Amino acid sequence: MNLILLGGPGAGKGTQAKKLIEKYGIPQISTGDILRAAVKEGTELGLKAKAYMDKGELVPDELVIGIIEERLKQPDCQKGYMLDGFPRTVVQADALDQVLRNMGSKIDHVISIDVDKEELVKRLTGRRTCRQCGAMYHIMFNPPKKEGACDKCDGELYQRDDDNEETVRSRLEVYEKQTFPLIQYYKDKGLLRTIDGIGSIDEIFNRITKILEG
Ligand code: AP5
Ligand code: MG
Ligand code: ZN
Repeated sequence: MNLILLGGPGAGKGTQAKKLIEKYGIPQISTGDILRAAVKEGTELGLKAKAYMDKGELVPDELVIGIIEERLKQPDCQKGYMLDGFPRTVVQADALDQVLRNMGSKIDHVISIDVDKEELVKRLTGRRTCRQCGAMYHIMFNPPKKEGACDKCDGELYQRDDDNEETVRSRLEVYEKQTFPLIQYYKDKGLLRTIDGIGSIDEIFNRITKILEG
């Protein structure tokens, strides 16, 4: 099962990916997570990426395409994978197509999680993430049992640098201009399944699994 999770910033890609890992045991490949780890470690990639991420802009295509190409070759991807936050431009989608063709692989489903803009702003500005295990919370919609601490591992919860309102607005604009065209792109390939992303986390999850098992 090879999936792409598509959706605006804050649509719930990461939240659903974590649940899909548990159910299907396939790895989540999030270019955002990989880039944030590189920034934290101060690698060459991280140094290049940081300025773009802080402004809410996309990191250049050739950098992320290189990351994905490497990652898809890892043995844990053989039983399937979900791409979260990649591709984000038509150039990336075409490159992915080429990489997969060379590997004799292909995408089975593209799931687009549809959430309106104002809801996305609310979700992002209230998001908190566990420093230790990466679990995601929301101060209103999905609060931890103990303020500031992860339910699963008691790790410290932090707010992402790019989750302030100003950067969120520019991420939304970038999504509309550069990523939204992928909806039509995958529709044309007959792969697109759009789901309503409003509802509880479990309701959205059921909508996704219905597609995967239907
Ligand atoms: P990335 O990390 O991919 O960020 P994003 O696409 O903006 O998406 P998010 O991770 O913010 O949202 P999500 O959909 O995962 O939502 P989540 O589940 O956390 O990218 C960051 C940056 O890296 C980019 O701006 C760019 O610079 C760079 N980058 C990454 N990939 C790139 C690429 N391919 N090319 C170029 N540059 C790239 O949920 C959000 C919040 O909502 C949480 O608080 C959650 O608890 C809550 N929530 C979830 N579901 C629900 C629900 N059903 N109801 C209520 N609240 C909910
Ligand atoms: Mg995410
Ligand atoms: Zn944790």
